[in-house]
Amino acid sequence: MTFIFAHRGSAGTHPENTMEAFIAAEKDGADGIELDVQLTVDGEVVVIHDLTVDRTTNGSGYVNELTFSELSKLKANYHSLHYFKKSCRIPSLREVFEWLEGNNLLCNIELKNAVNPYKGMEEMVIALVREFCLEKRVIISSFNHNSLVLCREIEPAIVTAPLYNEVLYKPWDYAMSLGASGIHPKLKSISDQEIQDAIACGVAVRPYTVNKEKDMKKLFAINCSAIITDYPGRAYRLREQY
Ligand code: G3P
Ligand code: CA
Repeated sequence: MTFIFAHRGSAGTHPENTMEAFIAAEKDGADGIELDVQLTVDGEVVVIHDLTVDRTTNGSGYVNELTFSELSKLKANYHSLHYFKKSCRIPSLREVFEWLEGNNLLCNIELKNAVNPYKGMEEMVIALVREFCLEKRVIISSFNHNSLVLCREIEPAIVTAPLYNEVLYKPWDYAMSLGASGIHPKLKSISDQEIQDAIACGVAVRPYTVNKEKDMKKLFAINCSAIITDYPGRAYRLREQY
């Protein structure tokens, strides 16, 4: 069965990377959530995609120059197309993990450390994973592939997967050279044959961001390991047919 990961939560219908989007993902039938993490200036692991808070909130400035208390006061749905009566906050990773204690969802944590390497981020994220005993439910991904190697050095039980957005030659061999057991390609960066070859070599394939029905159907038909989508409800309904 192809697993469904809700990209930044159910970001197609809810403000991205908020508890509201993650809770919606569970209701939509997702098997897991995908989220992005960075560090605040006072060392909290927070869930936000951009390096600055400008696009998604009513504030401005770099995430790594703001405290968690300052970030918590911002409206995380300020620019969202999705109307919400109450304002949403930027959650900490701890807050998401507390919520995960009450369900069985998987969690793909994308370390947003390709531009800003965020020294110490790997240790902090893995310490939280251990504290909540989530080793078997977490997949760590990143465009910073050295960081994924470091994650495996810190915790050999952790599952990792490199993100990439260009065509790679035998990406399954590359993943294995990093100690990763999966790959997270942009959908256009991998062919159906390569998906099947990777899975045959024991490397899971979870393409992003799969929002069109025709792409979902194709990936379900070839039994792709998982998809990462803004619309987990749509994917869940389509998957019933496979
Ligand atoms: O993890 C897949 C996808 O989220 C990577 O791209 O920019 O949406 O974080 P982005
Ligand atoms: Ca992401």
